[in-house]
Amino acid sequence: MQEIAPGAFPRLVYPDMRDPEKRAGRVTMGGGGITVPISFEKDIKPLFRTIDVEHMEPSGVLLDDYAYMSDASHNHANADAVFDTLKNQTMPPGGPFWPQDKVDLFAQWMSDGYKP
Ligand code: HEM
Repeated sequence: MQEIAPGAFPRLVYPDMRDPEKRAGRVTMGGGGITVPISFEKDIKPLFRTIDVEHMEPSGVLLDDYAYMSDASHNHANADAVFDTLKNQTMPPGGPFWPQDKVDLFAQWMSDGYKP
């Protein structure tokens, strides 16, 4: 528990819900917090631009499609292949490449169990 100095006005601090790391409970403010797994719809899908989704769709890489991205076949080969392009900066061609924190979030989504 956080000590409140005598005379100090008690202040409630809420985690910033726009920050997926905080929403997921990985970053907590003032003690405790529940851990919520990274969500494809909330945290991962919005990281892909419309142009990414549209350019990859004809190749059968369905970046905005949870069923495709979470497909468990061949040891989650779809998500794994997408992750490799992000981590190795081979996609999108010429960039802009994902910064490390976004790549880490994608990795976390995978290790959290490919949750919707
Ligand atoms: C399994 C993963 C992926 C594969 C196999 C793949 C493959 C390809 C191929 C063959 C092309 C067309 C040739 C080229 O322009 O180099 C392409 C284009 C493109 N890809 Fe991917 N890609 C993957 C993932 C991604 C991801 C994760 C993004 C975005 C974050 C992305 C964004 C794009 C864009 C924007 C283009 C069009 C580039 C342009 O025409 O200027 N791709 N991709």
